[in-house]
Amino acid sequence: MSGDLGMRGADGEVVLRLDGIRKAFGKLEVLRGIDLVVHRHEVVCLIGASGSGKSTLLRCVNLIEPVDAGRIFIEDAEITAAGVDVDRIRRRIGIVYQAFNLFPHMSVLDNVSLAPRKVLRTPRAKAETDALALLDRFGLAEKATEYPDRLSGGQQQRVAIVRALAMEPDLLLLDEVTSALDPELVAEVLGVIRELARGGMTMVIATHEMGFARDSANRVCFLDEGRILEEGPPDRIFRHPAEERTRRFLQRVIEAGRLDVTPEPDGASEAVAD
Ligand SMILES: Nc1ncnc2c1ncn2[C@@H]1O[C@H](COP(=O)(O)OP(=O)(O)O)[C@@H](O)[C@H]1O
Ligand SMILES: [Mg+2]
Repeated sequence: MSGDLGMRGADGEVVLRLDGIRKAFGKLEVLRGIDLVVHRHEVVCLIGASGSGKSTLLRCVNLIEPVDAGRIFIEDAEITAAGVDVDRIRRRIGIVYQAFNLFPHMSVLDNVSLAPRKVLRTPRAKAETDALALLDRFGLAEKATEYPDRLSGGQQQRVAIVRALAMEPDLLLLDEVTSALDPELVAEVLGVIRELARGGMTMVIATHEMGFARDSANRVCFLDEGRILEEGPPDRIFRHPAEERTRRFLQRVIEAGRLDVTPEPDGASEAVAD
């Protein structure tokens, strides 16, 4: 087992490995053999049409959905093996959904500090100090005593992300976390994710925000009918997709005005910012 904190920053360390993941709901084959490797500090964006299997894939990684076939490894440990402690594994994998799912009857501070206290047995004082530091890092310190219904959707989603971070996960899964937000609130949530990427958080992100994927992902995977049809650096996937189906998907995205494909100036081939 090489995955202790001392290994953080080691180049090329594998955090997540999926081998041949298959998942069906009844007769509907939703995941049809997914292979994926994610290294420490990598940001991998999953793109693809609605129904292509992005959410199911993330839910399988977090063991919310049992897989039908294939194996999932976190660092060196197979988490799909019989007899693994599922709760212990879930603690190491944060997941945030489209719906914010904050506890409505709890303050922001309690929302963020609850799991460390209850699950990790962190003493209340330390859990709250840590929670405040995290809230401060993401510009939410002054909201600590508020209840979720007093916050904007963007603020609630930022709190939901902070709540996941409070467990110090090895891996963070984000499933369309901006899709339920009014357009003017999307940027602040994407800002939080960019800040996490800068801080080295390993993330797998299902997103329709193609501009974000292009600018912030180390790698983009195009899912099509339960398979990763192609993957690569964002610059290549967005500018030179190898597969016709990827091309057609991106064309639809462009037509919907969700990907700016302004031709680059002569000689400047760097679309990847940050
Ligand atoms: N719990 C479920 N029961 C039955 N069908 C499901 C369930 N979850 C997802 N599906 C189906 O699986 C397919 C893939 O869904 P999903 O993983 O949500 O795709 P995406 O996130 O890419 O839109 C869809 O056809 C969806 O209707
Ligand atoms: Mg989805």
